[in-house]
Order: sequence, then structure tokens, then C-alpha cells
Amino acid sequence: MVDTQPSLATNLGGLLLSAPTLMGSGCYGSGEEYAPFIDLARIGGVVLKSVTRLPRLGNDAPRLVPVASGLLNAIGLQNPGIDSYLANDVAKFADRPCAIVGSVAGFAIEDFGDVTERLAARAEIDAIEINISCPNVAHEGETFACDPKLAERATQAARARTKKPLIVKLSPNVTDIASIARVVEAAGADALAVVNTVRGMSIDVDRQAPKLGNVTGGLSGAAIRPIAVLAVWEVARAVRIPILGQGGIETARDALEFVLAGATAISVGTGNFTDPRAPITIADGIRAYLAARGCASIEEIVGAANPGYLARR
Ligand SMILES: Cc1cc2nc3c(=O)[nH]c(=O)nc-3n(C[C@H](O)[C@H](O)[C@H](O)COP(=O)(O)O)c2cc1C
Repeated sequence: MVDTQPSLATNLGGLLLSAPTLMGSGCYGSGEEYAPFIDLARIGGVVLKSVTRLPRLGNDAPRLVPVASGLLNAIGLQNPGIDSYLANDVAKFADRPCAIVGSVAGFAIEDFGDVTERLAARAEIDAIEINISCPNVAHEGETFACDPKLAERATQAARARTKKPLIVKLSPNVTDIASIARVVEAAGADALAVVNTVRGMSIDVDRQAPKLGNVTGGLSGAAIRPIAVLAVWEVARAVRIPILGQGGIETARDALEFVLAGATAISVGTGNFTDPRAPITIADGIRAYLAARGCASIEEIVGAANPGYLARR
């Protein structure tokens, strides 16, 4: 056994985290809503709700539909747009005692460059995550994250406009996520977020109509965890940059699956809705796991169950 408590500190592509637990974009506001329930100083950081160039009202309701072991959402990227966001919101993040990661979404390549530059220029923002799971309006609505060329160009556009750590968030809705990950790494990403929601839908059999106002949506929560663990496993074997694992993490043992598959940090999204204290119990559970195994740091177990990851290091 080690004498001192194991360290949970980690480095996600240049973003230094005191704990490996980030809160997923769109699931945590900017942290203030959760401050009455948990000490924000004990989490690694918050990934903010994605912001776009122009304001967006979002999709028609219902936008959230609970399903077995998970949640379907089709929020439609509701946000005030970057002008209002910079003028009215960002200053409030200055006193957060954890890392603040800005999230940028876009519908054209130049959106990723322009919005990234403006958001990253603010001192309150420690890193940028680009959410490339959006349709490209100039390219027949193809999703950036599902097309290697578009994923590459979106990454290059953001990379060219900031020196802050750049995390690119991948979609699981592809046949070969490792090949997209390689392209995004070569385009200049510092880290990869793996994964966003899985496409899905649910039908109301009484009304004989889709339950979501948007008809289709993204599935999150425990239902997608095995899909997300596999995605982390495959990406970790393909790239050298660190991975932020996410998808259905609710407990420390869930989080450890991602770390052992090759994730350097993890993010909790839907899990916060059922247990606002989940980020704290997860961090405590990881620390206890490390202590029981005589590990001094979480970094010692990253990829420990993934020989392909270890071979690349
Ligand atoms: C209500 C809701 C809103 C979300 N909004 C965003 C968003 O604005 N940008 C983004 O990149 N991901 C968004 N996500 C995806 C989450 O950040 C996360 O990647 C996904 O839900 C998988 O993790 P989880 O199972 O822990 O929720 C959203 C998810 C939910 C449930």
C-alpha cells in the first residue's frame, strides 16, 4: 500500500486537471446549478453547453424522452449565439474552482474557426472542445464527425485559431471510429472526446407517432456504455493523443472501464441527472481503487486492459 493518497491529477492534451472527472457538454450548465449539491473544487472541470455562431431556439418539444437504461435527446443546440454568450455569460465562469472547457458547434467549416477563436480568446476558458456532430449545410447535411474529410477540415479550422488545448468530440455513428480519430489527430487535435450520443428514436404506440418533436435524437446514459467503451478501446489503439471517455458513466467502476480501455479522463453527462453527487463518488471510488492496488497515480492504470494501447506508448 502507498502511504499517501493516490493522485487523481492528469493531463488531457495540455489541460491540467486536478481530477479526471469532467462534466459533459449540455448536461451541467456551467456548474452553478450543481454548486448547492457538490463542491465544484472536487471535480476536474465542466464542458460548457455548445455555442454556435448565431442564436438557436432549438427543436420542438418534447426534446427529452427517457428510454430503457438511457435518455433520448434532441435539444437542437439551443444557445444564445456567440455574440450574446461572450457579452453576457462567459464572465460568470471566472470564479469556477475547476477547469472550464468551452464547446463550439458549427454548421460550416468557418464556424469552427471563428467561434473557437472568439471563445478561446477569453481568459475564463481553459480549453476548447469542438462538437463536430452537426450537419454541414454546405455539404448535403453530412455530419462533420462522420466524414473524415469534414472532420479533418473542422479540426484544422479550429486549430489554426487557438493555441489553447483543443479537444475534438467524435461521434459513435460511424463504422470505423479509429480512422476518423487518426485523421483528427493529424489535423492538430490535442485530445479526443469519445463519444457523443448514439442515434436513436422511440415511438409512442398509442399516438402511433415518434415521441421526440424532432423525430430522431441521440441516445445517452447506461444503454450506450458498452458502445462507448469499445470506441475508446479502438481509438486508444489508433492514436497517441489522450482520450476523454464518455457514454453512460454513472459509477466509479463504469469510469474505470473507460480508463482501463485507454481514457486519460472521463466525463459524466446523463448520470448527473439521476445523481448530482456522481462526480464526487466516482472520484472517491477511483482513488480507493488505486489505493487498494498500491498505485500512486491514475496515470498508472490508463489503458491497462488494452495491450494495443500500451504497445503504442
Ligand atoms: C440533454 C443533453 C444535451 C447535450 N448537449 C450537448 C451539446 O450541446 N454538445 C455536445 O457536444 N454534447 C452534448 N450532449 C452529449 C453529452 O455531452 C455526452 O457526450 C453524451 O450524452 C454521452 O455521455 P452520457 O451518456 O454520460 O450522457 C448532450 C447530451 C444530453 C443528454
